[in-house]
Amino acid sequence: MTMLWRLLEWKGRSVLTIGPDETVLDAIRKMAAKDVGALVVMEDEKPIGMFAERDYARNVFLKGKASPETTVRDVMASPVIFARPEQTVDECMSVMTRRRVRHLPVLDDGELIGLVSIGDLVRSVIDEQKTTIEQLEMYIHG
Ligand SMILES: NC(=O)c1ccc[n+]([C@@H]2O[C@H](COP(=O)([O-])OP(=O)(O)OC[C@H]3O[C@@H](n4cnc5c(N)ncnc54)[C@H](O)[C@@H]3O)[C@@H](O)[C@H]2O)c1
Repeated sequence: MTMLWRLLEWKGRSVLTIGPDETVLDAIRKMAAKDVGALVVMEDEKPIGMFAERDYARNVFLKGKASPETTVRDVMASPVIFARPEQTVDECMSVMTRRRVRHLPVLDDGELIGLVSIGDLVRSVIDEQKTTIEQLEMYIHG
């Protein structure tokens, strides 16, 4: 089963982040510009929260906080649910399902080294199944 450090080799290690005192509007603009569904909230180079599309819908819009001044700190999900590079794709899928999150920052000794989404995990599983099928076909057809 694929480990996260291997998945990050093809996905890349860059992570899109935002500061806690930036506005929710800035966060949404950044997510739209980069076409992603979540940002890691960083303070003093440490991840202190997550801001995802769902947080906007539930913590901002539904709670009447959709003002241009609302800050990310006011509505972010905290503490951060994260994964370690030696965890497997299966383990992370289980964490995402249990904790009901779609993005996991990857931390190595407290340092942010990547981020995986549910889409990345699904792609990894599909790639692995494809490889198994190809190997079986080679075995059958000689
Ligand atoms: N057609 C497109 O251009 C496009 C783009 C993004 C997602 N999608 C689709 O949307 C669905 C949901 O996607 P998802 O579950 O991957 O979530 P997502 O849309 O948030 O993530 C898309 C990609 O961006 C990366 N990403 C997200 N937030 C990031 C961050 N803060 N820092 C660094 N990388 C970040 C993810 O790891 C993933 O590789 C999937 O089916 C996906 O295929 C399509």
